[in-house]
Amino acid sequence: MKKLFIGLLCLLLIFLSSAAVQEEDLEVPFVPTPYDVVAKMLRIAGVSKDDVVYDLGCGDGRIVIMAAEKMGARGVGVDIDPERIKESRENAIRAKVTDRVRFLQQDLFKTDISEATVVTLYLTEEVNLKVRPKLLRELKPGTRVVSNDFDMEEWEPEKTLDVTSDYESYTIYYWVVPANVTGTWEWIMPDSSVKERYILQLDQRFQTVNGIVAMDTTKMIIKDSKLLGDRLQFTIDKKVKGRIETMVFEGF
Ligand SMILES: C[S@@+](CC[C@H](N)C(=O)[O-])C[C@H]1O[C@@H](n2cnc3c(N)ncnc32)[C@H](O)[C@@H]1O
Repeated sequence: MKKLFIGLLCLLLIFLSSAAVQEEDLEVPFVPTPYDVVAKMLRIAGVSKDDVVYDLGCGDGRIVIMAAEKMGARGVGVDIDPERIKESRENAIRAKVTDRVRFLQQDLFKTDISEATVVTLYLTEEVNLKVRPKLLRELKPGTRVVSNDFDMEEWEPEKTLDVTSDYESYTIYYWVVPANVTGTWEWIMPDSSVKERYILQLDQRFQTVNGIVAMDTTKMIIKDSKLLGDRLQFTIDKKVKGRIETMVFEGF
């Protein structure tokens, strides 16, 4: 009798807590991305069998299921709504990809996303801005992020793609998580006869990098800088025997 009472109480608590989760924590309602737009999101991110795709707010699981089915990727779908997770798991069984996908019923803000190589989002502008620090903090440099319809304000995308599906317009945004390169870097040119010592001071805002290179008493502003993941490229104009020579630097 006591056991039955505890069992019933647990069931009641589970019911109450799942209702509370939905009311308090559901940031965005379920609106699925059309399948042809999903295919374009995965293509823009260059998803392959080597990727681990996380869909934060996965709805019916279609993004990670397509990544597993068509590209052979592994996938993790996260949704706070238990109904969506149930649906995702059923869809994964139907698509025969249960060996490659997992679905987690939890808050995307409390999810460990560090193993992702690709993250997909279809949230809102506001939620994108809220999740942005988590993406930049937890994801490895080089991880690709794709969002349907909502951007990340000052974090400029590397690419955008306007698509139409069933007379509706969508914009796909694509970013690459930049490495943290801010600070002072020092090196000596390995193959020069005169051992020239370079001191580079960098600061960055997302993937936009500014800096100054000091060599002896000469200081030069870096130009044409490009930071993609952990790959940094820039040029400096150096005066050699009265002539300006452009030097290209590339580092990882
Ligand atoms: C617009 S739908 C996108 C579904 C799917 N990603 C797609 O593109 O087809 C947003 C999903 O986010 C889920 N969601 C909302 N707030 C969440 C949260 N805090 N944590 C996890 N999922 C959440 C909703 O339940 C919903 O399924």
